[in-house]
Amino acid sequence: MATRNSEPVLEIAGLSKTYTRRSGGVKAVQNVSLTVGAGEVYGFLGANGAGKSTTIRMLLGLIAPSAGTIRLFGRDLRHGQPPRKVGSLVDGGAFYPFLSGRRNLDVLARTQGLDGGNIDALLAQVGLARDGHRKVKGYSTGMRQRLGVAAALLNDPDLVILDEPANGLDAAGIQEMRALIRSLATEHNKTVFLSSHLLNEVQQTCDRLAIIDRGVLIREDTVAGILHEEDILRVVAIPLGKAQAALADWPSAIEGAALNVRAAKADAPEIARRLIAADVEVFSLAPHERSLEEAFLAITQAETNAAETGNA
Ligand SMILES: Nc1ncnc2c1ncn2[C@@H]1O[C@H](COP(=O)(O)OP(=O)(O)O)[C@@H](O)[C@H]1O
Ligand SMILES: [Mg+2]
Repeated sequence: MATRNSEPVLEIAGLSKTYTRRSGGVKAVQNVSLTVGAGEVYGFLGANGAGKSTTIRMLLGLIAPSAGTIRLFGRDLRHGQPPRKVGSLVDGGAFYPFLSGRRNLDVLARTQGLDGGNIDALLAQVGLARDGHRKVKGYSTGMRQRLGVAAALLNDPDLVILDEPANGLDAAGIQEMRALIRSLATEHNKTVFLSSHLLNEVQQTCDRLAIIDRGVLIREDTVAGILHEEDILRVVAIPLGKAQAALADWPSAIEGAALNVRAAKADAPEIARRLIAADVEVFSLAPHERSLEEAFLAITQAETNAAETGNA
C-alpha cells in the first residue's frame, strides 16, 4: 500500500492555455483545476485534441500557462524547480535509433548529470533486461514505450508524469504497461499522473481520474465513483412493454431484450413484486455496472447538451 500524506503532490488551479494563431486563438485548456495526492495513480482522460498534452507540457514547465497556477510538492512552479523530483515521458520519448536502449539511457543520464548507476535495474524493471543491448531502431512500439518509462525513472522521481504511455501498444502491451505503472505506485512508492484517450486503460490502472473534454475539465472523481454514479437495474422479462408500464415509478428504457431501470439497488425487491403483480414473466433482475465508456459518453453528452442549451 502506498503511503499517503495530506500534502498534495500536484495542485492545478484555474489553468488555461490559449495558443495564438494567425487564424485566431485556440483555447486548448480552459480553467482546469485538479489535485493529485501522494501515492495515487491519477488518470487524465480525454479524446484526441482535448488538451491533455498541453496540460502536461505546462506541468513540466515546457510551455507557459496563459493563466492559472501549478503547485508541485507545495511549490508554485513560477517560483522555481519543484522541491522533489519529477520524471516524465512525453511524445513516446526521443531516442537515438542507432544506439542501444542501454546506451540511450546512459546518454540521457549524463545529460541530466546523473551517474546512470541504476540503468540495469531500470531495464529489468520495465522488462527490457534482455533487450537493453539491442539498437532502438529494432524495438517494437511497446519496447520503445517501456524504454520511455525507464527514461522517466532515471532520476528516481517522486512524481512520474506519463503522456499516453499506452499509445501504439497492442492488448498485451497495454496489460504489461498497466502492471508496470501500478507497480510504480504500489512497490516503488511513486505518484503517477498519466494521460490517456483509452477508457479501459484508465479504468484498470488508475485510482482517480479527471475527464477533460475540449479543454474543459468536466469531472474529477474516483473510478468507482464515476462508474457507480447511478444504479441501473437490468430487467429481462416478457413482455417488456408491460414490465415498463408496471415500473412507471422509475425512469426506464428498453434496450434489446432488457429494460434498464434507473433505480437504487435497494428497490430491487419492490421492483420484483410489481413485475410479478403485473403478471410479467421475469427471467433476471440484476444491477448493471456501467463501463467507463458508457459513463464517459453519458458525462460528455450531458456536457455537450448543457453547452448547447447555454449558448442558445
Ligand atoms: N503548438 C500548438 N499550437 C497551436 N495549437 C495547438 C498546439 N498544440 C496543440 N494545439 C491544439 O490544442 C488543442 C489541444 O491539443 P493537445 O493538448 O495536444 O490535446 P491532446 O493531447 O489531448 O490530444 C488541439 O486543438 C490542438 O490542435
Ligand atoms: Mg496528446
